[in-house]
Amino acid sequence: MAQASGSPDVPSMGRRQFMNFLTFGAVTGTALGALYPVVQYFIPPSSGGGGSGVTAKDALGNDVKATQFLASHNSGDRTLVQGLKGDPTYLVVTEDKSLADYGINAVCTHLGCVVPWNAGENKFMCPCHGSQYNAEGKVVRGPAPLSLALTHVNVQDDTVFISQWTETDFRTGEEPYWA
Ligand code: FES
Repeated sequence: MAQASGSPDVPSMGRRQFMNFLTFGAVTGTALGALYPVVQYFIPPSSGGGGSGVTAKDALGNDVKATQFLASHNSGDRTLVQGLKGDPTYLVVTEDKSLADYGINAVCTHLGCVVPWNAGENKFMCPCHGSQYNAEGKVVRGPAPLSLALTHVNVQDDTVFISQWTETDFRTGEEPYWA
């Protein structure tokens, strides 16, 4: 009789467990919330031409602004900025004086020198062992075994973003070796 199903003890246990569950949920939720940015940090920037990536930085470490950048550069310019993983990356100004939607990683595929742009020759020419790359970074002379890596470049709210290029290399028709 005392253990009738309507006993107040039973629901009170249930309530307590429910409260424990809520507390657990709140703690877990908070912990996950705190972890979110950490986890995000370890996830590479989205693949493809999506909006995310890193902001391109100039030599002083400031974000590159597209309007300002284009005002001070000419068609055909290749200009170094800091890109993915801090790699020196060329932004390209197209013939119609806009920003190309691709960037060129300046690290030589031979032994890693930063390859300067030679406007007179219309090529990237590595001073270390003489490798050459055409204006789009495709290797045209060894010893470099591969073309310079590509990145995506896009502009959001006038800020220039650089993100990973995981699609086919448009210069060679091959899969990207760097992705
Ligand atoms: S590092 Fe560029 S040619 Fe050797």
